[in-house]
Amino acid sequence: MTNRNVLVLDTTLRDGEQVPGAKLNTLQKIEFAQQLKRLNVDMIEAGFPASSQGDFHAVQQIAKKVGDQISITALARAVKSDIDAVYESIKLAQNPFIHIVLGTSNIHLEKKFARSEDAVMQMGVDAVKYAKTLLPEVQYSTEDASRSDFEYLWRTIEAVVKAGATIINVPDTVGYAVPEEFGDLVRRINERLKTLNDKVILSVHCHNDLGMATANTLSAIKNGAEKVECTINGLGERAGNTSLEEVVMGLKVRENFYGCTTRIQTKEILQTSRLLTHLTGLDVQVNKAITGDNAFAHSSGIHQDGLLKDKNVYEIMSPEEVGGEKMELILTARSGRHAFKNAVERMGFSVSSTEEFEMLFEKFITLADAKKEVYDHDVFYLVTEHLNQPQ
Ligand code: KIV
Ligand code: ZN
Repeated sequence: MTNRNVLVLDTTLRDGEQVPGAKLNTLQKIEFAQQLKRLNVDMIEAGFPASSQGDFHAVQQIAKKVGDQISITALARAVKSDIDAVYESIKLAQNPFIHIVLGTSNIHLEKKFARSEDAVMQMGVDAVKYAKTLLPEVQYSTEDASRSDFEYLWRTIEAVVKAGATIINVPDTVGYAVPEEFGDLVRRINERLKTLNDKVILSVHCHNDLGMATANTLSAIKNGAEKVECTINGLGERAGNTSLEEVVMGLKVRENFYGCTTRIQTKEILQTSRLLTHLTGLDVQVNKAITGDNAFAHSSGIHQDGLLKDKNVYEIMSPEEVGGEKMELILTARSGRHAFKNAVERMGFSVSSTEEFEMLFEKFITLADAKKEVYDHDVFYLVTEHLNQPQ
């Protein structure tokens, strides 16, 4: 059986950019969108054009500059003026689609809209019908889906699909869902959706408030989601969005389990992450999966020894696969003889006897105790100094 392809939409420039301090100017957004093109995402959500002239202009430029190969969308509330702004800003792209968002949970209906279920659903239907007069492809997001009453959620989906929505996006807006429950929600929607109209794409959009965005997204894929919305480095409001690199590498490394692939050029992942850090000034936590500085660094002696025997002992993917440099062994006082010997030999030195090696190793341990981390240049000086000493 061939693997199913999962579509990847990057929303770093829309949901990610809502983070305080992450504001990018138009040129920076274009530079980032060009990198997303190299990463080979299927779709880019380029912004929220009704929010400001600047955002409108940036979305328009992205649609012109990278919209020849990548599908471009932008966000609209369920109001005509927002939908017009999206259409005007993305219409020059080859494959544009309008993204409409409207809440479906009781708390949204009561507190945000103070309207009945039917009245809010009608707003959604009218918005989709209007968007369809402008473009054939329309995505509808049932905001706060994971806290919505299932039957009302389904009635809304059914109504907007009948009105012409071509993608249904199920958001866990406040990061409330847990994997089993979210997977179950997606499975139930998928079963009904496929009977209603099997051409409609089922998408998910998760937030990371409980640290479960990646797990929820993968669980949704396992249960039928065909498209995922993510950001690079998991950038996004509060605890962020689903991290693109985690989902993509999760599917790749555990391909046998998920039976799914993406079109992402994984070798571009680190470059994309670093560009985003450079443009926003927001650092990635050092132990962040895939893109953190320590994601491929091993410092314990037991692990280093195992890795030197065979990489697969402690490595489930290689840094090269995500565009990184070779596996890094950071020497510390806990690194064993094997790792130290490897570093010495890697630098072209050969140690003549066991006694000499033991002397060097003792010096290395003293240095590691003092310095905590020992780098290649430290090993180089330690060995040269030793060799230059009168014997
Ligand atoms: O989190 C959310 O619900 C959103 C929607 C616009 C998809 O960002
Ligand atoms: Zn969101």
